[in-house]
Amino acid sequence: RKTRRPKFVIQDSNFTRLCNTKSILTVNGEFPGPTIHAARGDTLLIDIINQSKENITIHWHGAKQYRFPWSDGPEFITQCPLEPGTKFTQKIVLTDEVGTLWWHAHSEWSRATVHGALLVYPEEGTTYPFPKPRGEMQIVLGEWWNSDIGVVHDELIESGGDPEISDAYVINGQPGDLYNCSQSDTFRMKVEPGKTYLLRMVNAVMNNILFFSVANHSLTVVGSDGAYTKPLTSNVISIAPGQTMDILLEANQPPNRYYMAAKAYNGGLRGQFDTTTTTAILQYTGNYTPASPPPLPTIPAFNDSDFQSNYTASLRSLASSEHPIDVPTNISTHLFFTISINLNICPDNSTANTTCLGPGGNRFAATVNNLTFVQPRIDILQAYYKQINGVYGDDFPDIPTTTFNYTSTLLTQNQTRPDAGTKVNMLEYNENVELVFQGTSLVAGVDHPMHLHGYSFYVVGSGPGNFDRERDPLNYNLVDPPLQNTITVRRNGWAAIRFRTNNPGVWLMHCHFERHISWGMGMVFIVKNGKGANETILPPPANMPECPL
Ligand code: C2O
Ligand code: CU
Repeated sequence: RKTRRPKFVIQDSNFTRLCNTKSILTVNGEFPGPTIHAARGDTLLIDIINQSKENITIHWHGAKQYRFPWSDGPEFITQCPLEPGTKFTQKIVLTDEVGTLWWHAHSEWSRATVHGALLVYPEEGTTYPFPKPRGEMQIVLGEWWNSDIGVVHDELIESGGDPEISDAYVINGQPGDLYNCSQSDTFRMKVEPGKTYLLRMVNAVMNNILFFSVANHSLTVVGSDGAYTKPLTSNVISIAPGQTMDILLEANQPPNRYYMAAKAYNGGLRGQFDTTTTTAILQYTGNYTPASPPPLPTIPAFNDSDFQSNYTASLRSLASSEHPIDVPTNISTHLFFTISINLNICPDNSTANTTCLGPGGNRFAATVNNLTFVQPRIDILQAYYKQINGVYGDDFPDIPTTTFNYTSTLLTQNQTRPDAGTKVNMLEYNENVELVFQGTSLVAGVDHPMHLHGYSFYVVGSGPGNFDRERDPLNYNLVDPPLQNTITVRRNGWAAIRFRTNNPGVWLMHCHFERHISWGMGMVFIVKNGKGANETILPPPANMPECPL
């Protein structure tokens, strides 16, 4: 078990894409940011040095941070932001995670350019539960914006309407040669014929699920969100923002160049979006005359909701004797959370905002149990730990499970002026929690990739329409449900997850679509200390960033 000490210098750096040169926020001048390599059980000490002009925090997405929420990173949840010119050392103890995870900024929309892969290898003396690949490559799916991302964020908040969309998706920072003036901005991965490679995939885009495919090759997912899965082979995969996947690719085709391509899935979303295909090239080594242009993969249509939901529902835990699973039964806490896009009807006297560019001249809002999450001024973790009053309430609302048709297309009631506030849901230590997410059709039925900090959870069921608390649990998968930290709840449908509250702390849960969290689709769990000596939150490090006044 090693301690590794990467240094993250947050800085503004110039990059040119799509014939447009601009300054973006980076870590160490890289876009995407540095890949961190570690082994299961290692400790990371990351020195974050903010030399930029922005406030920032860094989140280690998928690292559970047992008993040490102080290093989790979401701003105003577990820490205050690092102001320009300040430093902070985050300590991450990797425990049971293995495979591809990632890190990203967790401060306004900075994660657009501040993100990278975190690769966790099996501990020394152990191996993968699949044949050792010839090589591996991180595939970080991101976006390029010709606009300044801070301006995009501010306009979203100001306008009350849809966000500006990015100008290209990128694969490892490159839009690919199907875009104008991007001939040289194409990522290439070289492979030897006959060998198998491990793709370490991260979806770091802001607002879209992506479909990904490699022409003429199949993709076998063997891990997801830092846990092994049963091999799942298909021509196209779907990956949501926040999700990570370990994918085997066998170079078993005639030597050539083949496009790999990513395209947005956009089911149920209103308005325009980018339909351009982002590409990279899988390039066989050896002497041959490559086809020109390279073959392109076929990708499902942007609105193929069936492909999206079926793919998402087909992941399974490996659940082998060496990699057993531990699904909570005897549920002691049942939670039911609606996740909705709502409207604040304009003129909205409750805020100073007068611009109303959302549907019908109103402002978008988003909720969990009809409550729009409001970020406090002091982080909730500090307020909880030091018992500072007035920062949050512990009365996160309940909502009735069955009295409402949440997914009716005629649904119009109850969608305006949702409540807004900073409220947490308190959980005892070692509860067996089942949480059902219920999507709604209030303003728009769309998919929501829901992410929980501090935990991975088993996805025991999902389906279309309203959750039926009598019938649906009969079909739960308790044998090999996937262990994930992000679950895409299908549009106008539901998903049920289970986890045991064995990690005391303050843990954010939110939709990983950035526009949705900006509109308030998030909430916070506080998991209380247990009675045992190893069941309590550890004391804070000495160098926590100061909260701005
Ligand atoms: Cu990937 Cu709250 O984050
Ligand atoms: Cu969402």
